[in-house]
Amino acid sequence: MAEVRPLTPSDLSPLTGPAHPPLLTSHTVGSALARAADLLEAAGVPDARREADELYAAIVGRATSAAWLEREQPSTEALRVRLDAAVRHRAQGWPQAYAAGRANFRGHWLTVDRRVLIPRPETEGLVEVVLEWLRAAGGRRGAEGGSVVADIGTGSGAIAVALALESPAGRIIATDRSAGALAVARANVAEHGVASRVELCRGHLLAPLGNGRVDVVVSNPPYVATGEWERLEPGVRTFEPREALDGGPDGLGAIREIVVSSRAVLNDGGLLALEVDAPRAGRVAELAAEAGFNSCTILHDLFGRPRYVRAWRPSDGSD
Ligand SMILES: C[S@@+](CC[C@H](N)C(=O)[O-])C[C@H]1O[C@@H](n2cnc3c(N)ncnc32)[C@H](O)[C@@H]1O
Repeated sequence: MAEVRPLTPSDLSPLTGPAHPPLLTSHTVGSALARAADLLEAAGVPDARREADELYAAIVGRATSAAWLEREQPSTEALRVRLDAAVRHRAQGWPQAYAAGRANFRGHWLTVDRRVLIPRPETEGLVEVVLEWLRAAGGRRGAEGGSVVADIGTGSGAIAVALALESPAGRIIATDRSAGALAVARANVAEHGVASRVELCRGHLLAPLGNGRVDVVVSNPPYVATGEWERLEPGVRTFEPREALDGGPDGLGAIREIVVSSRAVLNDGGLLALEVDAPRAGRVAELAAEAGFNSCTILHDLFGRPRYVRAWRPSDGSD
């Protein structure tokens, strides 16, 4: 997919429909949001008031209630320009996170644009699987500090940033083959002040790890089968990068490679944690067992669907 540069207000095509006072003339947050809601409603966006509040919350990086709590505050020009861009993009059908340029992941606000997948709530659960292992490893070793985690296909850097912020895991190596995705991840790593602990590497899956050893391999890889692409929601197909989602003819192309390569790079007792789609979870667990992993377990996500495969590299000392 062609790289998509960050948006500027001049990218916006004119809105059709009834004329509205521009957001740029609104002097308080409340009046800017009232006009934003009018624009969204005129464009047919359902629940327009809430949409406007959520766009505001994402732009300022706070809870949605900030829209009401800060309604009497003066609106700066910078805010009005960003809100205007967000509203116009949302009115044109962009997903909310791309329209605002921000997505919340485990309470952390991340910059996102069309070079990266919008981080999903299911992936928040994948981070939890890793944090549990790191806490247990801390108990075994007396400290979590020494663990090295590899986040394969980091996209926006969501998993890597969350792990760096929420665990004293020593180091995180985050890989992606997309230069655009790594640029977004770099911005998020810097914004959250974790650049000293997160190393971003461009390359194919685990290849950037070279001969290094890690304690955890975590990945939310592309896992949609090529033939399933047309059945995805139009918002996903139209806006999200295909290379982040397409896992080849059977959806298992990247997963097969990650499983086999992880067996080679993980330290004894190391964790492999994968996000997968529900219909293929059983097959992925089998692949892990066939590759020599122990305790291959399917775990469920917040919606009760079988979406994670967790496995341990045996502590047998073999390479
Ligand atoms: C499903 S997205 C996950 C992004 C992010 N980790 C998340 O959970 O939100 C998969 C990511 O893997 C990257 N990717 C796909 N194929 C790859 C490959 N062969 N090597 C490295 N990265 C790859 C894509 O660019 C994309 O950023």
